[in-house]
Amino acid sequence: MSDGNGSRAPVTIIGLGAMGTALAGAYLAAGHPTTVWNRTGGRAGDLVSRGAVEVPEVASAVAASPLVIVCVLDYPAVREVLDPIGAALSGRVLVNLTNGTPAQARETATWAAGHGVDYLDGGIMAMPPGIGTSDAFVLYSGSEDAFVTYRRELELLGAASYLGTDPGLAALHDLALLSGVYGMFAGFVQAFALAGSENIRATEFVALLTPLLHAMLADLPNWAERIDSGDHTTGVVSNLGMQATAFPNLIRASRDQGVRPDLMAPMQALLDRGVTGGHGKADLTVLVELLTSPAPTKGTPA
Ligand SMILES: NC(=O)c1ccc[n+]([C@@H]2O[C@H](COP(=O)([O-])OP(=O)(O)OC[C@H]3O[C@@H](n4cnc5c(N)ncnc54)[C@H](OP(=O)(O)O)[C@@H]3O)[C@@H](O)[C@H]2O)c1
Repeated sequence: MSDGNGSRAPVTIIGLGAMGTALAGAYLAAGHPTTVWNRTGGRAGDLVSRGAVEVPEVASAVAASPLVIVCVLDYPAVREVLDPIGAALSGRVLVNLTNGTPAQARETATWAAGHGVDYLDGGIMAMPPGIGTSDAFVLYSGSEDAFVTYRRELELLGAASYLGTDPGLAALHDLALLSGVYGMFAGFVQAFALAGSENIRATEFVALLTPLLHAMLADLPNWAERIDSGDHTTGVVSNLGMQATAFPNLIRASRDQGVRPDLMAPMQALLDRGVTGGHGKADLTVLVELLTSPAPTKGTPA
């Protein structure tokens, strides 16, 4: 949002960890008057030399801009910082880019509404060096007015996607996406540990792992189609029963090699549940349904 004369809207950033510093840097680079506040003072040196104004009181930071962006460690920290200054935030747009759950986002939106604050929740899908580049995207949900009014400013951080008025939607998407990432990280850890148990260098092994993972990723749209259609049995080429038979080898070999199989054990349990539940001929995609249905109690079928 500009004032029509081309001058940039003032922006306040609360929280100067790695991410908050990157966010403030993006606004400075785009010529926005940028006010910053951090619980521990003295972390804004570089930003100040680039033109940011660091203030000692969070209420003064909020008073400086109609657009206030908070990015601290977690939601309890958000509330610790903002609860005492609800009145100062009244009439402003608050964009919360702190990682949290949908329930925390909705609670914070309710708190904001009670103080007359226009609230947008967000999930940053980038690391700090990616902020402001084409690699970054940020998910938003909550006040559509706030998103429309400040879309241009939000786009400075990365591609901005608005997901709907339910303030919990950005956090839900964020955490679902991170689940994919951390599931992959768990696989990376196990794979490098198992290869390393025979002194295979990670830098050699990665040349094999990378193309295999690319091939698996290329199949992801087929997963999505099966999941949306609910058809897990047509045209199956790698059935669950076969995979449930092969998977224990991974666990056994890990143990034999002195590598803890802890990260893989839950997957084994889910595969076994699929087989005992009669899904041996189905695609692995059926596991999504098993994960969202209650685990059977002893003595009842899966
Ligand atoms: N870094 C990433 O790659 C990344 C990527 C996507 C999303 N995020 C999310 O962005 C948020 C910030 O991450 P970060 O990387 O900037 O973390 P960080 O470098 O560890 O910084 C944490 C920030 O939170 C502040 N803080 C912690 N507890 C506080 C409290 N009780 N009251 C006030 N301030 C408090 C810290 O202030 P002090 O300096 O006073 O300790 C600092 O400014 C997190 O929710 C994170 O999940 C991070």
